[in-house]
This record gives sequence, C-alpha cells and structure tokens, in this order.
Amino acid sequence: MCSVVNFNINGYHYKLPVIYGTFCEKGEKAINISQLRESTGFITFDPGFKNTGITKSSISFIDGEKGELLYRGYPIEQIINKCSFIETSYLILNGELPNTAQLKYFSEKIKKFNSIHKEIKKILDNIPNSYHPMGILSSLTYILDAFINCLREEDLYLHLLAKLPILAALTYRKKIGLPTTYADPHLDYTSNLLKMFFSIPNQSYELNPIIADALNKILILHADHEQNCSTTTVRLLGSAHAGLFSSISAGMSALWGKLHGGANQAVIEMLEAILKSGGNIKKWIEKAKNKKDPFRLMGFGHRIYKNFDPRAKIAKKVAENVIQQLGISDPILELAKDVERKALQDSYFLEKKLYPNIDFYSGIIYQAIGIPKEMFTVMFALGRLPGWMAHWKEMKLNKDPIGRPRQIYIGYKKRNIKKN
Ligand code: ACO
Repeated sequence: MCSVVNFNINGYHYKLPVIYGTFCEKGEKAINISQLRESTGFITFDPGFKNTGITKSSISFIDGEKGELLYRGYPIEQIINKCSFIETSYLILNGELPNTAQLKYFSEKIKKFNSIHKEIKKILDNIPNSYHPMGILSSLTYILDAFINCLREEDLYLHLLAKLPILAALTYRKKIGLPTTYADPHLDYTSNLLKMFFSIPNQSYELNPIIADALNKILILHADHEQNCSTTTVRLLGSAHAGLFSSISAGMSALWGKLHGGANQAVIEMLEAILKSGGNIKKWIEKAKNKKDPFRLMGFGHRIYKNFDPRAKIAKKVAENVIQQLGISDPILELAKDVERKALQDSYFLEKKLYPNIDFYSGIIYQAIGIPKEMFTVMFALGRLPGWMAHWKEMKLNKDPIGRPRQIYIGYKKRNIKKN
C-alpha cells in the first residue's frame, strides 16, 4: 500500500500523504489534500462532495458496491434481529452495546426526561395547523434548548431521545384534533411512542406487538448512515460550535428535502399517482428516464449504494410481514413491488446502478402502522436522531475545524459604482 501519491503541477513535483480506513482493502482510502493550497496554490473542485471525505469517523460504514451497512462494526441484519431501537441508540452514541445495567440506566434516564415544558405546548398551539410536520418538529427542537437547564452533555442526548417522540406525537395529535398526551413510564420506547401517537381519551390503549415490532425495526434501519446530507449539516453546524439542539434542528431541515428523507412521502405520493392514472408503470419509468422531464423515480438511486441498499431489502420484508400479519391488503405494496421489478429490468436503471433505497418501502410500513404521509419524514427523524447526536459528539471529540469550503469565483471583476 502506498503511503504517498506523487503528482506534477507545472513541472513541480509534489507528494501527498494517503490515509487508509479500516476497510482499505475495500477501497477505503483518501489523498490528504489539507496542505494542497498552501503548497501548490490549487484547491480541489468537487460539487456535491462526491469525492470528498470530511472527517474520520467510527460510527457507521457502508460498502456501497456490496450493499453492506455496519453500525459500530455490527451488520444491520444482525442488529435488526437482536436489538431494540434503544439498544441501537446506545450502541451508536457510545460505541458498544450496553450491558444490562447500562441499558437500565440509559432507559430510566430517558423515562425521567420524558416530559416537556408547558410553554412548548403553547408555542405548538400557535403554529398554523397547515404547516408541514417537519417544519414544526424542526422549530420545536430548536426552541427546546430554551427550556432545558442541563450541564451534563451526556444528559442532553437523553433529553432529546426522550422529548423528540413527545414533540412528534403532539404535532400529529394537533393535526388531527386529538388532545395532549403524556408519556407512559411503564412502556418501552417504541410502545410508548405508539401510545403517545394513537391513544384516545377515555379508551384504554391496546398495544399491537406486530406494529411495535415493525416500528422498532424501521427506526433501527434509520439510526445512522455515514456522512449523508442531514448528518453533514449537523456536523457543519457543530463545527461552528453551535449548540446540539440547533444543530439537530438544522439536520431535520436538511432531511425534509425530497432528495433526502422527504423522499419517503414523495414515494407514496408517486405510487398513488401511478395508481390513480391507471397503473401504467412503463409510462412513469419512461418519464423518469426522460432528461427533459424533472421527474425522477422517487425511492430509487443513492449516492453510495451502487448495489441494493440493504435497508431497502429489510424494509421490503418488514412491509410484507406487517401487512400479512395484520391481514390487510395494500395495493400500494403490490404496485411498489411491480415498479421495482420493472425498473430493474430496464437498462437505464441497471447501467446507472439505480436500486430501491430505504425510502422506497418505509412509507408502506408507516402506512400499515397508521402514520399519515405528512408524518413519514418525522418518523425518519426520530430514527436518525442517535446518528445525528453521535456525529455531533464525534465531531467535538475529534476537534474537527470549522467547516468552510472554498469556491471558484466566476462573478464580475472588481468594478466601480457609477451614479449620476
Ligand atoms: N430516477 C431517474 N434517474 C435517476 C434517479 C432516479 N431516481 N436517480 C438518479 N438518476 C440518474 C440521474 O439523472 C443521473 O443521470 P445522468 O448520469 O445521465 O445525468 C444519474 O442517475 C446519477 O444521478 P445523480 O443525481 O448524479 O446521483 P446523486 O448521487 O447525485 O443523487 C439521489 C443521488 C439524490 C438519491 C438520486 O438518486 C435521486 O434523486 N433519487 C430520487 C430521490 C430519492 O429517492 N432520495 C432518497 C435517497 S435515500 C436517503 O436520502 C434517505
């Protein structure tokens, strides 16, 4: 393995150091250009950071060619079958799975922080009901900071894990006109989340274990995913020494975008539109291939995966299981499978290596659980929270410098203002 790369610029010879990751045999290597401008006067140009590593991280790893995802070294397929979302959150935040005592402490601390200040409820009451739940969640997460007097950074993470489900549930309940809800300390994390969403006053809430299991799994699938757009946003804010809550709130705003987490809502809307327009899948695939048409097949393609997204494979199974176990028939699931089949027979998708991503099947799971479309990305945010926090924490521990890219200026040359 080489330790430097050699290159020539204008007749001068330079050596740049090479950095290797844990999986260097899988191509995890980088040319360290941190001294490039100082030594050569050149910067690199890489829109969308397609070839740029911004940090060294030990939280998650994606092998995009093989379609493999690891959280702290553990394959996602093992975590899904052996861990709860709260154990996964502990793993992602702290680096190791918790032992019994650690899990008890972690869970009880979350339960202890399981309430919000009544003023936050007042703020929510004053937000127009028509506003998108992601905008509400991001705003409330930002303002949460004003109501938490906590000196221990470790407790801030637990406050967020405890309070975000309450904010999500209150947002949902306000939308559909249900009264305020409170956390139930006797329930585990996902069961409590479901009860806070769906309990109806004066009726006892019957927890459905099939639904609780599906929710647990989909939250785990979202828990972390390297330097994606929202996580990078969180790290960038943190690098300026912005606080945890504002950094997470900004991450949520990034996630809301249709090309990122907002795709889960867009997928269901697309599938409904296909169904409504007569189910001609071929026509929609042709539309996605047409470069003059801005339409893209939502839930397809990924910056890193050039093979199946392993999360999409699991989500598809979870969607099939939950629908079958609940005994419901969902024409959207059947349509989604058909769209996947037809797209993957098309040379455009094969050549460009565009496979279904996590968002292609996650909405079907949410719908089976009873979550409305507008809330899908909120559920994604609840799942991604541990990842965002772990990256914020890692960024601080690494002492990453403030994120400040350069640019190539193509505007006017210096000129003078001419006024009569
Ligand atoms: N439908 C049709 N064509 C597509 C699609 C798609 N879903 N995705 C990519 N392509 C095409 C592009 O037009 C481009 O074609 P070209 O090389 O002829 O110009 C090529 O495939 C490469 O696509 P890029 O946009 O350059 O790839 P990038 O890595 O920048 O984008 C992204 C990845 C944003 C996910 C893209 O695939 C996309 O828009 N997908 C649909 C939205 C989506 O599902 N987002 C969720 C992603 S997962 C997540 O964030 C949780």
